[in-house]
Amino acid sequence: MRTKIKRVKKQQLDHAIIKEAGEILKNGGLVAFPTETVYGLGADALNAGAAGKIYAAKGRPSDNPLIVHITEMEDLKKIAAVVPREALVIADRYWPGPLTMIFEKTDAVPYGTTGGLDTVAVRMPSDETARAVIAAGGGYIAAPSANTSGRPSPTTAGHVEEDLAGKIEMIIDGGPVDIGVESTILDMTVAPPMILRPGAVTKEMLEELIGEVAEDRAFYEPGSGVKPKAPGMKYRHYAPRAGLSVVEGDMNQVVAEINRMAEEKIAGGSKVGIIGTQETVDRYTCGDVKSIGTREDEATIAAHLYGILREFDQDQVDYIYSESFAAGGMGSAIMNRLLKAAGHHVINV
Ligand code: TXA
Ligand code: MG
Repeated sequence: MRTKIKRVKKQQLDHAIIKEAGEILKNGGLVAFPTETVYGLGADALNAGAAGKIYAAKGRPSDNPLIVHITEMEDLKKIAAVVPREALVIADRYWPGPLTMIFEKTDAVPYGTTGGLDTVAVRMPSDETARAVIAAGGGYIAAPSANTSGRPSPTTAGHVEEDLAGKIEMIIDGGPVDIGVESTILDMTVAPPMILRPGAVTKEMLEELIGEVAEDRAFYEPGSGVKPKAPGMKYRHYAPRAGLSVVEGDMNQVVAEINRMAEEKIAGGSKVGIIGTQETVDRYTCGDVKSIGTREDEATIAAHLYGILREFDQDQVDYIYSESFAAGGMGSAIMNRLLKAAGHHVINV
């Protein structure tokens, strides 16, 4: 299959391209499009055959459910059987935006979309192109991140092309995304509601609205034997090809230890990548050093994380050493993805 690549401007809809994307989706095909979090790989969520093509194109395990994307509050009742009052309060504030909520599903949603579950994950993105594509495609678009299963999520159309060219009908290139990590997932079928995946809408932000919110401890305690409640969170994910270690501790010692390990590996003939920050990059003495952003603004770190992991793949490094980041706020989402990319390999200094 030849994949069409169509370029669009961020805040300016291209109606001809949107129309063409809508036709592909309505006919059961696949279209990748930008959202504010990461690029999504869209298919008609209410058509089990179309959703099935997503699993084939990504090489995704069939028990890993998809998020259904909508554009209007009105449309929620067709797919969600029970919508608790708290969900309406949260939606009022954070939809459209980087938040997914899980509800009991209606019969309109095929099990092929939910990986056999009786619940459905729903998100209303804010990106204008995403919204137009969803509406043109019939209003209910299943969209996982548009990467090959196991690779870092795509934050540019180029990343999507690397993984999915030749396997899908169209890629809409809307430039780099704003946020760079996937949406927060909040399970509304339990009391108190539980965060299954941390993202830009933080625990603190949700608690301010509805009171107590729980967290799936599995995403911080991988060795505890706790099984993650979002099926997708159990796979080694977001992973670069090189071995990645996260180094934690006092900043001076972290820099010294990364320099020591990098020198040792390089002396042994390996290629080493280092993930530093604007505050520290000048202090690394060897290796392929990249700044992920500034600690003064964690959003910059989230935005560059997946792109840097892909760059190191392209540079064919053998080992990557990364500084670590504080949990809390956006830091929780960053550390969750970084630790998963590292297969939870952490060095304490
Ligand atoms: O930001 C995002 O959410 C992006 C953009 C494209 O919208 N999408 C995304 O989808 O990250 P995906 O498929 O890569 O991740 C969805 C996660 C998986 O871990 C999956 O297991 C979980 O959501 N999930 C989906 N439906 C669920 C359900 N009914 N119950 C529990 N977890 C669910
Ligand atoms: Mg994904």
